[in-house]
Amino acid sequence: MQYGYFDSEKREYVITRPDTPQPWANYLGSPAYGAIISNNAAGYSFVRSGADGRLIRYRFNELNTNLPGRYIYIRDDKTGDYWTNSWQPVAKPFDEFISECRHGTAYTTIKSEYKNILSEVDYYVPHSNGVRDNCEREIWRVKITNTGDTVRELSAFSYAEFTNLGNYEQDMVNLQYSMFISRTEYKDNIIVQHLNENTTHDGGKTFGSHRFLALAGADVIDCCGDREMFFGSYRNYGNPEAVEKGAAGGAHAYNGNAVGVLQSKITVNPGETKTFCYVLGEGNFDAAAVWVKDYADPAKAETELCELKNYWHGKLNNLVVNTPDEAFNHEVNTWNAYQCFITFTWSRAASLIYCGQRNGYGYRDTVQDIQGIIHLDSAMAKDLLKFMLSAQVSNGAGLPLVKYTHNAGNEDTPEDASYRTTTGHTHWRSDDALWLFPTVDKYIRESGDTDFLDEMITFAETDGGEGTVLEHLKRALDFSFDNMTDKGLPAGLEADWNDCLRTGRYGVSSFVSFQLYYALEIFANMAAFKNKDDLRGWAIDKRKTLGEAIDEYLKEPDRYLRAITEEGLKIGSAESDEASIWLNAQSWAVISGKASGDYAQTILGTVNKNLNTKYGVKLFAPPFTKFGMPVARMILFNPGTKENAGIFSQSQGWIIQAESKAGNGNRAFEYYTHANPCAYNDKAEMRRLEPYVHGQFIESDYSPYFGRANVHWLTGTASTMMIGAVEGILGIHPQYDGIEFDPCIPSDWKGLTIDKIFRGKKLRVEVINETGAEKGVKHVELNGATLDGTVIPFDKLGGDNEIKIYM
Ligand code: GLC
Repeated sequence: MQYGYFDSEKREYVITRPDTPQPWANYLGSPAYGAIISNNAAGYSFVRSGADGRLIRYRFNELNTNLPGRYIYIRDDKTGDYWTNSWQPVAKPFDEFISECRHGTAYTTIKSEYKNILSEVDYYVPHSNGVRDNCEREIWRVKITNTGDTVRELSAFSYAEFTNLGNYEQDMVNLQYSMFISRTEYKDNIIVQHLNENTTHDGGKTFGSHRFLALAGADVIDCCGDREMFFGSYRNYGNPEAVEKGAAGGAHAYNGNAVGVLQSKITVNPGETKTFCYVLGEGNFDAAAVWVKDYADPAKAETELCELKNYWHGKLNNLVVNTPDEAFNHEVNTWNAYQCFITFTWSRAASLIYCGQRNGYGYRDTVQDIQGIIHLDSAMAKDLLKFMLSAQVSNGAGLPLVKYTHNAGNEDTPEDASYRTTTGHTHWRSDDALWLFPTVDKYIRESGDTDFLDEMITFAETDGGEGTVLEHLKRALDFSFDNMTDKGLPAGLEADWNDCLRTGRYGVSSFVSFQLYYALEIFANMAAFKNKDDLRGWAIDKRKTLGEAIDEYLKEPDRYLRAITEEGLKIGSAESDEASIWLNAQSWAVISGKASGDYAQTILGTVNKNLNTKYGVKLFAPPFTKFGMPVARMILFNPGTKENAGIFSQSQGWIIQAESKAGNGNRAFEYYTHANPCAYNDKAEMRRLEPYVHGQFIESDYSPYFGRANVHWLTGTASTMMIGAVEGILGIHPQYDGIEFDPCIPSDWKGLTIDKIFRGKKLRVEVINETGAEKGVKHVELNGATLDGTVIPFDKLGGDNEIKIYM
């Protein structure tokens, strides 16, 4: 079943049936002022912290019809009939009510037509100078048009449900307290909620404890600040008594639940459109009064919306591809790219699933998220990368959780009880800092900023000192070598990438072994570039010895093991009864360069035979049902779910990279399509999640709901799938001093084009595949001249370049 379509020109997903399987969301603003909005206008907003700064309320895990949101109720004052601009919550029947929701890049437009009244609301957070700016407000721009031939007299009522406390949990559960600390007041088109408690956050600074909803561009004739008075007894969001009666009623919240309801009379002549804006934010009357004045000019919202689109589209235009597959193009050009910016910016802070209580960046998560945007905005990537390097401890490990208040040089670590109690992380994880290698490498290749390796960065902990980026990377390697098992292989420690696999100090992780093997190669190349031959030699020797240990302990004829427990039990052996074949162990063997040639084909074949399904590749098989705690904690999940033999979406990006590296273009693309949300646009009732975003996992064939996707938006899948597409399938490989294109595509693709901005230069690339190859470049032409070899030297590039790649 299909609920909408992709408008690739506008870079929007258009929902034409509002009864989507679940709320399909979009992100507005940034964690400085963040807002999440569904296709039916449900969702919440917060200032500075998803955990502590909630402005408007959302009840997680509710039935879809019972969600608070940013509603506009419209009432025909002659007939008494009323509806909402969004289909929910009044939910008029579809034979009379036409609705369209357009989720775009950081704005959402919900439009409806009912009985000759066309209404349209654009929801956005003004951008100003950058996504990290604090704009402290969101806008709901409303346009109401009379498409009939009689004058219509309408009332419009806004609805915003304020929280009583910025902290989500406290607002929900500490009612004996929270219900008695707020009240509302009205003056000059503004309703303000005063909170008696000051919420303090952001490095101990105190922020305002007033929230407002204001109306600009129309007059308020009545208001309501009390939720229960607005709805009346035993009613719901679909039938508020005040709207039914046509009078907001003027009641104010004094204790209880505060809402922002502003009623205005809108008279529209045939063909006429009335435009006005609601502004929601943090602040008192004075702050709001400024916006009431500013937004009375309709040009203000129009300009801000244009700025927002230009900002986002400008970034996305840095890579535009045109391949024979539309769903692939939607992802690379818009949706996967946009999701990468969302995970980069929002980490795992807040969604309709994440309640925002994890008040920091996961080390591995964010270092990987950065990879997803490097090709689109390497400067933005660099800032966060430096921040993450400053969250590396001088022993080389990354802090498992990097607090949003992180202050390099002054932090505690898992070795301190204070860190353990505030974050819940009791020990180091084995993989965290190893993610830095591909991320730093990709950043330098894309930007050409080789001096980055010499930049000084402070270590995280108190008195940890500082070091160059190259030194940080060296320490990351040292950390792994300081935590080796007696087999000469890295220990799994608290966990490796897989949060559920606990092999401990004396157990081995093959994933980390491959990461380390890969890291050593990247490091050797960097050291060579910096003329540090001793370091290069050291890394090459270490890699060789590590490679031998990997083969001695982890290799079987058709697979690599996934782990060896402290007791010596093999996990992921052909002889294991449960979890006998693991995806990441094979994909990373190939990505790391450890497995190549025939053996790479063999292990990739084992994956294909044992783990591939029509909806993606399982993390392992069969699921754990007997062997479990304390090593294999995924036994807690139902078989076929999440880390227990589910189709873990993040891992799909890696198998695509591995297949591409091995030259299997048909298979890489088959896996890509299985994982591509857009490819399920007409199976939304099965997949359930937004067809324009990746989720964390898909239930595998061990679940009765095979194909159902879960945990939307904030997932490492965004970046791995992006790398799978950009580096894997499209084969875009920037080098320190040039760029190479080495696509790995389905044999029936006759060609494709890539428009890329590379270090400020325009590249218009045409890939020609007349022979039906999956991989392999015969020759390359740059501006009409055939090059020696396949790497395009940077110094041969002009401002505008025509590049032809012959496969
Ligand atoms: C989740 C976590 C991530 C972890 C993955 C696998 O996505 O956010 O850190 O690597 O699960 O366990």
